[in-house]
Amino acid sequence: MELSNKTIAITGGGRGLGAAIAKRLATQGCKIALIDLDEKTLERCAAECIAAGAPQVETYKANVAKENEVENLFQQIAEDFDALDGLVNNAGITRDAMMLKYKDGQQVSKMTIEQWQSVIDVNLTGVFLCGREAAAKMIKFESGGCIINISSISRAGNMGQVNYSAAKAGVQAMAVVWAKELARFGIRAASIAPGFIGTEMVMAMKPEAREKLTSGIPLRRIGEPDEIAQTVQFILENDYVSGRCIDVDGALRL
Ligand code: CAA
Repeated sequence: MELSNKTIAITGGGRGLGAAIAKRLATQGCKIALIDLDEKTLERCAAECIAAGAPQVETYKANVAKENEVENLFQQIAEDFDALDGLVNNAGITRDAMMLKYKDGQQVSKMTIEQWQSVIDVNLTGVFLCGREAAAKMIKFESGGCIINISSISRAGNMGQVNYSAAKAGVQAMAVVWAKELARFGIRAASIAPGFIGTEMVMAMKPEAREKLTSGIPLRRIGEPDEIAQTVQFILENDYVSGRCIDVDGALRL
C-alpha cells in the first residue's frame, strides 16, 4: 500500500503505542482517524499529527467494547473521510493479578471476574468489533485495506496476566482468520507482538516485576514505541504480508 493520503484508523490513539503509530503514519502523509476514550490526549496527539504532516486528522471518543458505539464510530469515519484503508487495533488495558494467590497454605486473593471481564471486553471483544466494522466499510469502498492487531509477547502466557494473555493470543488468531476470510476483498490482516516497550503500561508495572522481566531481554533494553510504529508501517506497505504475527521484543521469549 502506498501510504500517502490513505485513511488509517487507530484505536487507543491518544497516547502510548497508538500515538507513536499515529505520528509515524502522519509523517508518511496518511490521514488519521484517532480513537480513544480520553479527549484531552486525543486532541494533543491530533495536533502533533497535523504538525508531522497528516493532511487530515479527526478524533473520536468511543468505547471499543460497546457494539453500538463501534458501529456508529466507523459509520462516522466513513462519512468524514469517504475512505478507509487501514485499521490498527491498538486499544488495550491491563488488570494484572495472579489467578490464585496463596500464602502459608491459605488463599489470599484471586483474579476477580471484573479483572477478567474488563480486559476481555476491551482487548478481545473490542478488537473483534472494530475489525468487523472496519472491514465492512473497506468492502463497501471496494479499495481493499489492511487490519493490524496489536498482540503482545504475553500471548505466549505471562504470569499475572491470564486475562491479558488470553486476549492477546485471541487477537493474533483473529488476524489469521481475517486474513483468510477477507483476502477475497483485497483486505490483508496481520498482528504484531511487542515485547516490553517504554510506555506508561510497562512503566506502571511493579518495579520488581519489571526488573525481573526486562533483565532477561537479550538486547538489554526495553523497546521504543516508534520501533512498533515502524513495524506497522512495514506491514501496511508490504502487500504480501498477511495472516502472520511479527514479534518485536529484543529477542525475549516468555
Ligand atoms: N516470574 C516469576 N515469578 C513471578 C512472576 C514472574 N513473571 N510474577 C510473579 N511471580 C511470583 C512472585 O515472585 C511471587 O512469588 P513468591 O510468592 O514466591 O514471593 C508470586 O509470583 C506472587 O507475585 P506477587 O508477590 O508480585 O503478587 P502480587 O499479588 O503482589 O502482584 C502481579 C501480582 C500484579 C501480577 C505482579 O506480580 C505483577 O505486576 N506481575 C507482572 C505482570 C506483568 O508482567 N505485566 C506486564 C505489564 S506490561 C504489558 O502487559 C505490556 C505487554 O504487552 C508486554
